[in-house]
Amino acid sequence: MHILVVTQDFPPDVGGTQTYAAEVARGLARHGHRISVVCPDRPDAPPHDNEFAAAGVHTIRVASNQDTFPIKAVPAVRRLMAEATVDVAFAVAWPSALALLMAGVRRHHIPIALAAHGRELLLEPVRVPGGQAVYNALRRRIVRSADLLLPVSRYTASLLVPFGVLAMQIQIVNNGTDPSVFFPVDTAECAALRAKLGLPDGPLILTVSRLVGRKGVNTVLEAFPGVLCTHPRASYVVAGDGPDRDALVALASRLGISERVHFLGRIPYAELRTLYSAADVFVLPAREARPDVEGFGIVFLEANACATPVIGADTGGIPDAIEHGHTGLLIPPDDAAALGKALSGLLADPERAAAMGAAGRKRVVDAFNWQCAADHIEARLSHL
Ligand code: GDD
Repeated sequence: MHILVVTQDFPPDVGGTQTYAAEVARGLARHGHRISVVCPDRPDAPPHDNEFAAAGVHTIRVASNQDTFPIKAVPAVRRLMAEATVDVAFAVAWPSALALLMAGVRRHHIPIALAAHGRELLLEPVRVPGGQAVYNALRRRIVRSADLLLPVSRYTASLLVPFGVLAMQIQIVNNGTDPSVFFPVDTAECAALRAKLGLPDGPLILTVSRLVGRKGVNTVLEAFPGVLCTHPRASYVVAGDGPDRDALVALASRLGISERVHFLGRIPYAELRTLYSAADVFVLPAREARPDVEGFGIVFLEANACATPVIGADTGGIPDAIEHGHTGLLIPPDDAAALGKALSGLLADPERAAAMGAAGRKRVVDAFNWQCAADHIEARLSHL
Protein backbone atom coordinates (compact mmCIF):
# COMPACT_ATOMS: atom_id res chain seq x y z
CA MET A 1 0.00 0.00 0.00
CA HIS A 2 0.96 3.61 -0.41
CA ILE A 3 -0.07 5.23 2.89
CA LEU A 4 -0.29 9.00 3.04
CA VAL A 5 0.20 10.25 6.61
CA VAL A 6 -0.78 13.87 7.26
CA THR A 7 0.22 15.37 10.58
CA GLN A 8 0.59 18.84 12.05
CA ASP A 9 2.70 17.27 14.84
CA PHE A 10 5.98 15.68 13.85
CA PRO A 11 9.64 15.68 14.96
CA PRO A 12 11.75 17.67 15.53
CA ASP A 13 8.84 19.11 17.56
CA VAL A 14 8.54 17.36 20.93
CA GLY A 15 5.37 15.89 22.41
CA GLY A 16 3.19 12.82 22.57
CA THR A 17 1.37 13.32 19.24
CA GLN A 18 4.72 13.94 17.56
CA THR A 19 6.09 10.69 19.00
CA TYR A 20 2.91 8.86 17.94
CA ALA A 21 3.09 10.13 14.34
CA ALA A 22 6.77 9.28 13.93
CA GLU A 23 6.57 5.82 15.50
CA VAL A 24 3.39 4.72 13.74
CA ALA A 25 4.86 5.86 10.38
CA ARG A 26 8.05 3.87 11.06
CA GLY A 27 6.04 0.83 12.20
CA LEU A 28 3.90 0.90 9.03
CA ALA A 29 7.07 1.21 6.91
CA ARG A 30 8.43 -1.97 8.53
CA HIS A 31 5.46 -3.78 6.96
CA GLY A 32 6.94 -2.88 3.57
CA HIS A 33 4.40 -0.19 2.71
CA ARG A 34 5.33 3.02 0.98
CA ILE A 35 4.92 5.82 3.55
CA SER A 36 4.67 9.51 2.60
CA VAL A 37 4.33 11.97 5.49
CA VAL A 38 3.13 15.54 4.93
CA CYS A 39 4.21 17.54 8.01
CA PRO A 40 5.37 21.04 9.05
CA ASP A 41 8.81 22.30 8.09
CA ARG A 42 11.35 23.22 10.78
CA PRO A 43 14.91 24.62 10.43
CA ASP A 44 16.36 21.56 12.22
CA ALA A 45 14.32 19.01 10.24
CA PRO A 46 16.99 17.69 7.77
CA PRO A 47 18.86 15.30 10.12
CA HIS A 48 15.51 13.88 11.27
CA ASP A 49 14.37 13.49 7.68
CA ASN A 50 17.52 11.55 6.80
CA GLU A 51 16.78 9.13 9.64
CA PHE A 52 13.15 8.79 8.52
CA ALA A 53 14.26 8.14 4.93
CA ALA A 54 16.57 5.37 6.15
CA ALA A 55 13.54 3.82 7.89
CA GLY A 56 11.48 4.00 4.66
CA VAL A 57 9.48 7.07 5.68
CA HIS A 58 9.47 9.84 3.05
CA THR A 59 8.76 13.29 4.52
CA ILE A 60 7.23 16.18 2.60
CA ARG A 61 7.75 19.36 4.62
CA VAL A 62 5.30 22.25 4.41
CA ALA A 63 6.21 25.77 5.58
CA SER A 64 3.55 26.36 8.25
CA ASN A 65 2.82 26.68 11.92
CA GLN A 66 0.34 24.48 13.82
CA ASP A 67 -2.63 26.74 13.01
CA THR A 68 -1.92 27.22 9.32
CA PHE A 69 -0.88 23.63 8.60
CA PRO A 70 -4.32 22.26 7.54
CA ILE A 71 -4.51 24.94 4.79
CA LYS A 72 -0.83 24.99 3.82
CA ALA A 73 -0.71 21.19 3.51
CA VAL A 74 -3.40 21.09 0.82
CA PRO A 75 -1.15 21.72 -2.25
CA ALA A 76 1.36 19.10 -1.04
CA VAL A 77 -1.39 16.50 -0.65
CA ARG A 78 -2.81 17.38 -4.10
CA ARG A 79 0.65 17.10 -5.70
CA LEU A 80 1.22 13.72 -4.12
CA MET A 81 -2.13 12.37 -5.34
CA ALA A 82 -1.35 13.62 -8.86
CA GLU A 83 2.08 11.96 -8.89
CA ALA A 84 1.19 8.57 -7.39
CA THR A 85 -1.69 6.36 -6.37
CA VAL A 86 -2.49 6.73 -2.69
CA ASP A 87 -4.31 3.72 -1.21
CA VAL A 88 -5.20 5.08 2.19
CA ALA A 89 -4.82 8.38 4.06
CA PHE A 90 -4.00 8.54 7.74
CA ALA A 91 -4.63 11.79 9.65
CA VAL A 92 -2.86 11.95 13.00
CA ALA A 93 -5.46 14.38 14.40
CA TRP A 94 -8.68 15.83 12.99
CA PRO A 95 -7.22 19.17 11.73
CA SER A 96 -4.96 17.12 9.46
CA ALA A 97 -8.04 15.32 8.12
CA LEU A 98 -9.33 18.76 7.14
CA ALA A 99 -6.30 19.10 4.84
CA LEU A 100 -7.13 15.74 3.27
CA LEU A 101 -10.76 16.66 2.64
CA MET A 102 -9.86 20.07 1.21
CA ALA A 103 -7.33 18.41 -1.09
CA GLY A 104 -10.10 16.20 -2.48
CA VAL A 105 -9.15 12.71 -1.27
CA ARG A 106 -12.84 11.78 -1.34
CA ARG A 107 -12.97 12.48 -5.10
CA HIS A 108 -10.16 9.96 -5.47
CA HIS A 109 -12.10 7.44 -3.31
CA ILE A 110 -9.25 7.24 -0.82
CA PRO A 111 -10.38 6.00 2.62
CA ILE A 112 -9.42 8.09 5.67
CA ALA A 113 -8.23 6.75 9.02
CA LEU A 114 -8.15 9.30 11.84
CA ALA A 115 -6.28 9.01 15.13
CA ALA A 116 -7.72 10.65 18.26
CA HIS A 117 -5.68 11.68 21.30
CA GLY A 118 -7.98 13.69 23.59
CA ARG A 119 -7.49 17.42 23.94
CA GLU A 120 -8.06 18.22 20.27
CA LEU A 121 -11.60 16.78 20.54
CA LEU A 122 -12.53 19.20 23.34
CA LEU A 123 -10.63 22.40 22.52
CA GLU A 124 -12.70 25.57 22.08
CA PRO A 125 -10.15 28.04 20.69
CA VAL A 126 -12.43 30.41 18.75
CA ARG A 127 -13.09 33.77 20.42
CA VAL A 128 -15.27 35.56 17.83
CA PRO A 129 -19.06 35.44 18.53
CA GLY A 130 -20.65 32.39 16.91
CA GLY A 131 -17.27 31.17 15.68
CA GLN A 132 -16.99 28.31 18.14
CA ALA A 133 -20.29 26.81 16.94
CA VAL A 134 -18.97 26.79 13.36
CA TYR A 135 -15.69 25.24 14.55
CA ASN A 136 -17.58 22.54 16.51
CA ALA A 137 -19.77 21.71 13.51
CA LEU A 138 -16.73 21.42 11.24
CA ARG A 139 -14.88 19.19 13.74
CA ARG A 140 -17.97 17.00 14.16
CA ARG A 141 -18.38 16.64 10.41
CA ILE A 142 -14.73 15.70 9.89
CA VAL A 143 -14.67 13.19 12.76
CA ARG A 144 -17.89 11.54 11.59
CA SER A 145 -16.65 11.30 8.00
CA ALA A 146 -13.60 9.17 8.87
CA ASP A 147 -13.77 5.56 7.72
CA LEU A 148 -11.81 4.45 10.76
CA LEU A 149 -11.24 6.19 14.10
CA LEU A 150 -8.22 5.21 16.17
CA PRO A 151 -8.47 6.56 19.76
CA VAL A 152 -5.36 5.96 21.88
CA SER A 153 -7.27 4.84 25.00
CA ARG A 154 -10.68 3.81 26.31
CA TYR A 155 -11.02 7.34 27.67
CA THR A 156 -10.35 8.95 24.28
CA ALA A 157 -12.84 6.54 22.72
CA SER A 158 -15.45 7.80 25.22
CA LEU A 159 -14.80 11.36 24.02
CA LEU A 160 -15.83 10.27 20.52
CA VAL A 161 -19.29 9.14 21.62
CA PRO A 162 -20.88 12.66 21.60
CA PHE A 163 -19.75 13.00 17.99
CA GLY A 164 -22.36 10.41 17.06
CA VAL A 165 -19.88 8.03 15.42
CA LEU A 166 -20.70 4.35 14.93
CA ALA A 167 -19.06 1.75 17.20
CA MET A 168 -17.85 -0.09 14.10
CA GLN A 169 -15.88 3.03 13.05
CA ILE A 170 -13.85 2.88 16.28
CA GLN A 171 -10.80 0.75 17.06
CA ILE A 172 -8.89 1.56 20.25
CA VAL A 173 -5.15 1.23 19.67
CA ASN A 174 -3.15 2.12 22.78
CA ASN A 175 0.04 4.13 22.48
CA GLY A 176 3.34 2.34 22.89
CA THR A 177 7.01 2.99 23.28
CA ASP A 178 10.16 1.49 21.81
CA PRO A 179 11.81 -0.99 24.23
CA SER A 180 15.00 -0.94 22.14
CA VAL A 181 15.33 2.82 22.74
CA PHE A 182 14.04 2.83 26.31
CA PHE A 183 15.73 0.10 28.35
CA PRO A 184 17.38 -0.15 31.80
CA VAL A 185 20.81 1.50 31.72
CA ASP A 186 23.57 0.31 34.06
CA THR A 187 24.30 2.12 37.31
CA ALA A 188 27.69 3.51 36.18
CA GLU A 189 26.07 5.34 33.25
CA CYS A 190 23.27 6.58 35.53
CA ALA A 191 25.85 7.87 38.04
CA ALA A 192 27.72 9.65 35.22
CA LEU A 193 24.54 11.42 34.07
CA ARG A 194 23.65 12.36 37.65
CA ALA A 195 27.12 13.89 38.05
CA LYS A 196 26.86 15.73 34.71
CA LEU A 197 23.46 17.19 35.65
CA GLY A 198 24.63 18.05 39.17
CA LEU A 199 22.11 15.76 40.85
CA PRO A 200 22.94 14.63 44.40
CA ASP A 201 23.01 11.02 45.62
CA GLY A 202 19.91 9.60 47.28
CA PRO A 203 16.44 8.53 46.13
CA LEU A 204 15.36 10.18 42.91
CA ILE A 205 11.77 11.01 41.92
CA LEU A 206 11.37 11.96 38.25
CA THR A 207 8.84 13.70 36.02
CA VAL A 208 9.33 14.04 32.24
CA SER A 209 6.74 16.38 30.81
CA ARG A 210 5.91 19.49 28.90
CA LEU A 211 5.30 21.99 31.71
CA VAL A 212 1.62 22.79 31.27
CA GLY A 213 -0.99 23.01 34.03
CA ARG A 214 -2.80 19.73 33.56
CA LYS A 215 0.32 17.60 34.13
CA GLY A 216 0.05 18.13 37.91
CA VAL A 217 3.72 18.92 38.64
CA ASN A 218 2.42 21.36 41.30
CA THR A 219 0.80 18.41 43.12
CA VAL A 220 4.17 16.61 43.25
CA LEU A 221 5.81 19.75 44.66
CA GLU A 222 3.06 20.01 47.29
CA ALA A 223 3.54 16.33 48.21
CA PHE A 224 7.32 16.52 48.32
CA PRO A 225 7.84 18.17 51.77
CA GLY A 226 5.99 15.17 53.27
CA VAL A 227 8.23 12.77 51.34
CA LEU A 228 11.31 14.57 52.69
CA CYS A 229 10.13 13.89 56.26
CA THR A 230 10.57 10.15 55.69
CA HIS A 231 13.29 10.33 52.99
CA PRO A 232 15.40 13.42 53.74
CA ARG A 233 17.96 12.61 51.02
CA ALA A 234 15.35 12.41 48.23
CA SER A 235 15.45 14.73 45.20
CA TYR A 236 12.72 15.61 42.75
CA VAL A 237 13.87 16.07 39.15
CA VAL A 238 11.70 17.64 36.45
CA ALA A 239 12.75 17.21 32.80
CA GLY A 240 10.94 19.19 30.12
CA ASP A 241 9.97 22.78 29.53
CA GLY A 242 6.84 24.82 29.00
CA PRO A 243 4.84 27.90 29.94
CA ASP A 244 4.38 26.88 33.61
CA ARG A 245 8.07 26.57 34.42
CA ASP A 246 8.48 29.93 36.22
CA ALA A 247 5.35 29.38 38.33
CA LEU A 248 6.55 25.91 39.34
CA VAL A 249 10.03 27.20 40.26
CA ALA A 250 8.34 29.89 42.38
CA LEU A 251 6.10 27.27 44.05
CA ALA A 252 9.13 25.13 44.97
CA SER A 253 10.71 28.23 46.50
CA ARG A 254 7.54 29.08 48.50
CA LEU A 255 7.43 25.51 49.79
CA GLY A 256 11.08 25.82 50.90
CA ILE A 257 12.18 22.80 48.84
CA SER A 258 14.18 24.51 46.05
CA GLU A 259 17.41 22.83 47.15
CA ARG A 260 15.94 19.36 46.60
CA VAL A 261 14.09 20.15 43.35
CA HIS A 262 15.90 20.29 39.99
CA PHE A 263 14.30 21.75 36.87
CA LEU A 264 16.45 20.43 34.02
CA GLY A 265 14.62 22.00 31.08
CA ARG A 266 14.37 20.07 27.83
CA ILE A 267 16.59 16.97 27.85
CA PRO A 268 18.11 15.48 24.67
CA TYR A 269 16.25 12.37 23.55
CA ALA A 270 19.43 10.28 23.86
CA GLU A 271 19.69 11.06 27.60
CA LEU A 272 16.10 10.22 28.49
CA ARG A 273 16.57 6.47 29.04
CA THR A 274 19.46 7.08 31.44
CA LEU A 275 17.38 9.58 33.38
CA TYR A 276 14.42 7.17 33.57
CA SER A 277 16.79 4.38 34.65
CA ALA A 278 18.40 6.55 37.33
CA ALA A 279 14.99 7.32 38.86
CA ASP A 280 13.60 5.28 41.75
CA VAL A 281 10.08 6.26 40.77
CA PHE A 282 8.48 8.19 37.91
CA VAL A 283 5.48 10.42 38.67
CA LEU A 284 2.94 12.43 36.64
CA PRO A 285 -0.34 13.09 38.48
CA ALA A 286 -2.10 14.71 35.50
CA ARG A 287 -5.53 16.14 36.21
CA GLU A 288 -8.56 16.40 33.95
CA ALA A 289 -8.88 20.13 33.30
CA ARG A 290 -11.18 20.13 30.28
CA PRO A 291 -10.44 20.84 27.51
CA ASP A 292 -6.95 19.94 28.69
CA VAL A 293 -6.95 16.19 29.26
CA GLU A 294 -4.42 13.34 29.30
CA GLY A 295 -5.33 10.99 26.45
CA PHE A 296 -2.87 8.30 27.55
CA GLY A 297 0.62 9.34 28.77
CA ILE A 298 3.45 7.80 26.73
CA VAL A 299 5.96 8.84 29.41
CA PHE A 300 4.61 6.14 31.78
CA LEU A 301 5.54 3.48 29.24
CA GLU A 302 8.96 5.06 28.60
CA ALA A 303 9.72 4.94 32.35
CA ASN A 304 8.35 1.39 32.66
CA ALA A 305 10.46 0.29 29.67
CA CYS A 306 13.50 1.40 31.71
CA ALA A 307 12.23 -0.83 34.57
CA THR A 308 11.13 2.14 36.67
CA PRO A 309 7.81 2.00 38.57
CA VAL A 310 5.31 4.77 37.84
CA ILE A 311 2.69 6.78 39.71
CA GLY A 312 -0.07 8.58 37.84
CA ALA A 313 -3.48 10.04 38.60
CA ASP A 314 -6.62 8.07 37.94
CA THR A 315 -7.78 10.41 35.18
CA GLY A 316 -8.17 10.46 31.40
CA GLY A 317 -6.39 7.63 29.59
CA ILE A 318 -3.81 7.06 32.36
CA PRO A 319 -5.55 3.86 33.60
CA ASP A 320 -4.71 2.34 30.18
CA ALA A 321 -1.06 3.36 30.57
CA ILE A 322 -0.63 2.10 34.17
CA GLU A 323 -1.76 -1.28 35.45
CA HIS A 324 -2.55 -0.33 39.05
CA GLY A 325 -0.66 -2.38 41.62
CA HIS A 326 1.29 -4.20 38.90
CA THR A 327 3.31 -1.70 36.82
CA GLY A 328 2.68 1.27 39.09
CA LEU A 329 0.08 3.07 41.17
CA LEU A 330 -2.95 5.20 40.37
CA ILE A 331 -3.84 7.88 42.91
CA PRO A 332 -6.71 10.42 42.96
CA PRO A 333 -5.89 13.65 41.07
CA ASP A 334 -5.00 16.85 42.98
CA ASP A 335 -4.43 14.84 46.16
CA ALA A 336 -0.99 15.76 47.49
CA ALA A 337 -1.49 13.68 50.65
CA ALA A 338 -2.31 10.50 48.72
CA LEU A 339 0.57 11.16 46.33
CA GLY A 340 3.03 11.75 49.18
CA LYS A 341 1.96 8.45 50.77
CA ALA A 342 2.35 6.56 47.46
CA LEU A 343 5.80 8.08 46.81
CA SER A 344 7.08 7.44 50.35
CA GLY A 345 5.65 3.91 50.25
CA LEU A 346 7.47 2.98 47.05
CA LEU A 347 10.75 4.57 48.18
CA ALA A 348 10.49 2.61 51.43
CA ASP A 349 9.89 -0.70 49.64
CA PRO A 350 12.58 -1.12 46.94
CA GLU A 351 11.59 -4.75 46.36
CA ARG A 352 8.01 -3.81 45.47
CA ALA A 353 9.27 -0.91 43.36
CA ALA A 354 11.67 -3.20 41.47
CA ALA A 355 8.91 -5.78 40.89
CA MET A 356 6.65 -3.07 39.44
CA GLY A 357 9.47 -1.80 37.24
CA ALA A 358 10.17 -5.31 35.93
CA ALA A 359 6.45 -5.93 35.30
CA GLY A 360 6.26 -2.60 33.47
CA ARG A 361 9.20 -3.46 31.21
CA LYS A 362 7.64 -6.86 30.42
CA ARG A 363 4.28 -5.26 29.60
CA VAL A 364 5.99 -2.88 27.15
CA VAL A 365 8.01 -5.65 25.51
CA ASP A 366 4.97 -7.96 25.26
CA ALA A 367 2.27 -5.56 24.13
CA PHE A 368 2.64 -1.84 24.80
CA ASN A 369 5.19 -1.06 22.11
CA TRP A 370 4.97 0.88 18.86
CA GLN A 371 5.35 -2.16 16.65
CA CYS A 372 2.26 -3.74 18.25
CA ALA A 373 0.36 -0.48 17.78
CA ALA A 374 1.46 -0.20 14.14
CA ASP A 375 0.57 -3.88 13.52
CA HIS A 376 -2.99 -3.29 14.77
CA ILE A 377 -3.32 -0.14 12.69
CA GLU A 378 -1.88 -1.84 9.62
CA ALA A 379 -4.38 -4.72 9.92
CA ARG A 380 -7.29 -2.26 9.96
CA LEU A 381 -5.91 -0.05 7.16
CA SER A 382 -5.53 -3.09 4.88
CA HIS A 383 -9.26 -3.71 5.13
CA LEU A 384 -10.49 -0.19 4.38
N1 GDD B 1 13.61 14.56 24.31
C1 GDD B 1 12.68 15.01 25.15
N2 GDD B 1 13.04 15.96 26.04
N3 GDD B 1 11.46 14.50 25.05
C2 GDD B 1 10.55 14.98 25.91
C3 GDD B 1 10.82 15.97 26.87
C4 GDD B 1 12.15 16.48 26.94
O1 GDD B 1 12.52 17.30 27.76
N4 GDD B 1 9.68 16.22 27.53
C5 GDD B 1 8.72 15.42 27.00
N5 GDD B 1 9.26 14.66 26.02
C6 GDD B 1 8.63 13.62 25.20
C7 GDD B 1 8.42 12.35 26.04
O2 GDD B 1 9.58 11.55 26.04
C8 GDD B 1 7.22 11.72 25.33
O3 GDD B 1 7.63 10.90 24.23
C9 GDD B 1 6.45 12.93 24.82
O4 GDD B 1 7.33 14.04 24.79
C10 GDD B 1 5.28 13.27 25.76
O5 GDD B 1 4.24 12.40 25.47
P1 GDD B 1 2.99 12.16 26.44
O6 GDD B 1 3.46 11.81 27.79
O7 GDD B 1 2.12 11.13 25.79
O8 GDD B 1 2.25 13.60 26.60
P2 GDD B 1 1.69 14.74 25.58
O9 GDD B 1 0.79 15.61 26.42
O10 GDD B 1 2.82 15.44 24.92
O11 GDD B 1 0.85 13.96 24.47
C11 GDD B 1 -0.58 13.95 24.19
O12 GDD B 1 -0.77 12.97 23.13
C12 GDD B 1 -0.28 11.69 23.48
C13 GDD B 1 -0.37 10.81 22.24
O13 GDD B 1 -1.59 10.22 22.08
C14 GDD B 1 -1.39 13.52 25.43
O14 GDD B 1 -2.78 13.45 25.13
C15 GDD B 1 -0.94 12.15 25.88
O15 GDD B 1 -1.71 11.70 26.99
C16 GDD B 1 -0.99 11.14 24.72
O16 GDD B 1 -0.33 9.96 25.15
